Amino acid sequence: MQAIILAGGKGTRLRPLTLHTPKPIVPIANRPFLDYQIDLLKRVGIIQVILCLSYQPRRIEEMLSDGSHHGIHVNYLMEASPLGTAGAFKNAESMIEGPSVVFNGDILTDVDLAEAMEFHTRAKAMATIILTPVEDPTTYGLVEVDPSGRVNRFLEKPGKDQISCNTINAGIYILEPEVLKYVPTGHAFSFEYELFPKLLEHRVPFFAFVSNGYWVDIGTPARYLQANLDVIAGKLLSFKPDPGNASTTFLNFAEIDELSIIGDDVTLKPGVTIRRSVIGPNCYIEENAVIEDSVVWANSRVGAGGRVVRALVGKSCHIGREARVLEGSVLGDKSVLTDFSRTLHR
Ligand code: GDD
Ligand code: MG
Repeated sequence: MQAIILAGGKGTRLRPLTLHTPKPIVPIANRPFLDYQIDLLKRVGIIQVILCLSYQPRRIEEMLSDGSHHGIHVNYLMEASPLGTAGAFKNAESMIEGPSVVFNGDILTDVDLAEAMEFHTRAKAMATIILTPVEDPTTYGLVEVDPSGRVNRFLEKPGKDQISCNTINAGIYILEPEVLKYVPTGHAFSFEYELFPKLLEHRVPFFAFVSNGYWVDIGTPARYLQANLDVIAGKLLSFKPDPGNASTTFLNFAEIDELSIIGDDVTLKPGVTIRRSVIGPNCYIEENAVIEDSVVWANSRVGAGGRVVRALVGKSCHIGREARVLEGSVLGDKSVLTDFSRTLHR
């Protein structure tokens, strides 16, 4: 079996972080996001991966190369202009040999793929969609299922008055190659708005498998931060991060809780406090700075007495002395906050 990862979106909701780092490789607990999806696939023995890319493809290719250092084999498909989710799958047609696992490239999850694959075979499904329960389905694809497990209705981004259940499309599908005949060649086509409604119209065996495991779409700043905090808190059962703070200088003078992750070659000056946070490699945190519930990307600097709370700080930022970067702040790469600056607390 092979996997197809749809990783061509622009990541607009995660700007400014995705201006220079495409969403599929933003770090989660100091690890490129795609590494988590690759782990999930390897656990069920899938090592053939097709990456469908469009936005900043070279950066992703540089990082994964042919996949051999991850023990997988990666093929890349570049779209000159975005083909949409189903169009990207169609574009891979010549490489598809049998049933495929198709993934949205921004889903961090513990879903039991082996169980989902067994379900798909047992149900003799042409398409199986994995569902997850959420409190508010409006920003997702709502999926209604009948008692036999067949999909009844698929409604992408439902309005508040259209919500009839709490199960949504988790962005993971198992698809038989026959599905491809419902997707036109050579132009943009969407799973969510076009293919799934079409499968229902043609009454093909389209089933749903509900997963109650950890699941998050990392595509907004709030959810990206949450994903990091969840991983370091051990909520993603399939991956336990290594605090990896062995190479930290002056560790003895800094207070770091056991959940925080400190990247390589980070300097922490005396009096620094770090709680429930991820500090990227090569950061420089000066005296008495406090970082809480935050993610700071590589090569950034926080000046003496600075405070970063529930915030996201991009690469190579410079936060001045006594500056306050407060809840909800997202600083793009190379942001500079002068001494005593404050961002709003909302
Ligand atoms: N190759 C390629 N080409 N990939 C694409 C394209 C494209 O034209 N458009 C989007 N993608 C990729 C994105 O990179 C992302 O990984 C995935 O498809 C989904 O796109 P998003 O833009 O993140 O969609 P969403 O989060 O609003 O909604 C989707 O995911 C939800 C679950 O998180 C839908 O599938 C919803 O139904 C679903 O509930
Ligand atoms: Mg998404």
